[in-house]
Amino acid sequence: MTPSLVSVEKVKKRYGDLEAVKGVSFEIQRGEIFGLLGSNGAGKTTTISMISGTLSPSEGQVTIAGEDVSRGSLSVKRAVGVTPQDLAIYPRLTGRENLEFFGTLYGLKSTKLSRRVDEMLALVGLTESASRMAEEYSGGMKRRLNLAAGLMHSPQILLLDEPTVGVDPQSRNHIFEGVRELNGRGLTLLYTSHYMEEVQALCDRVGIMDGGELVACDTVKNLIAGMGGSVIEIGTDAPANTEPLLQELRAISSVQEVEFIPIRGGEETEKSDKDVLFASGHSPMFGTLRLRAGQPNQILAAVINLLNRENAPIHHLDIKEPNLEDVFLKLTGKSLRD
Ligand SMILES: Nc1ncnc2c1ncn2[C@@H]1O[C@H](COP(=O)(O)OP(=O)(O)OP(=O)(O)O)[C@@H](O)[C@H]1O
Ligand SMILES: [Mg+2]
Repeated sequence: MTPSLVSVEKVKKRYGDLEAVKGVSFEIQRGEIFGLLGSNGAGKTTTISMISGTLSPSEGQVTIAGEDVSRGSLSVKRAVGVTPQDLAIYPRLTGRENLEFFGTLYGLKSTKLSRRVDEMLALVGLTESASRMAEEYSGGMKRRLNLAAGLMHSPQILLLDEPTVGVDPQSRNHIFEGVRELNGRGLTLLYTSHYMEEVQALCDRVGIMDGGELVACDTVKNLIAGMGGSVIEIGTDAPANTEPLLQELRAISSVQEVEFIPIRGGEETEKSDKDVLFASGHSPMFGTLRLRAGQPNQILAAVINLLNRENAPIHHLDIKEPNLEDVFLKLTGKSLRD
């Protein structure tokens, strides 16, 4: 097996009494796009800063190509590019001047420098706006310039911390396509985003952080497979006492979970006719029946037969494939969009 490019080993970071990162370990292979997911405060930026060397771990070690990052060697600095969450560009310089500045920092000169600037401007779609001041750029254009700046010195790995936050769809697309193209040319990437569909579409493997811990780390495919199947959602009027029906549904082979979520339509006053009927145990309840099953198509007929027998009408029926958002919710109990 080829050695990984980045190795994060039992890394902790304390800020006073707060342990922001609590012993996290993972590896990033050469050529892969590794996603890091977590809600606000999960410890993503802190972890990224320890990989780039701007923060030292309180405990543990990060190595890049086998070299300890905290030693601050030039070869490690050259290997890593960062697109920080907080923009790191100069508003009073033009787009081109910004990139020239970052290129010069890394020793690029004359023709090599101007060629690289042109190439990066084209990659992020800013060629036509290159002579405008960065302060006049839209939010999305600033994000694109921020991305280009991190790439000027041709790093081996680029750490992208929320590169698409708050940007218009056109800029998001430029960044998204730029990332794909760079990866196609062999660049390794670490990508954090609150946009789950981006991470699902882009990343080979994903680490999920929650409260400073890495709670899962696997391929997108394996993480989703770990959810154990699709969900069938049926809008229906179930009998007031749903339990016997739910038990029969649970007994169908390959059904893993069954629940009924009643919807009362918001008029929850004690005196409403509906509540009196619910309490009496005779009225059907409107709501959603949710079943999780490995092979939903194979059990649909049996489920529908049972509902027909109970005279429970089917108002709608939906089969939902689990996605990364479901995995995240299951593992952290949180929605990323909160
Ligand atoms: N310089 C600092 N001093 C003290 N606490 C900090 C510092 N930087 C971060 N923290 C705390 O560490 C925790 C992790 O923060 P971090 O910025 O790594 O989270 P994040 O996952 O990047 O969140 P977000 O999605 O909001 O960017 C948070 O509780 C944060 O308040
Ligand atoms: Mg962050």
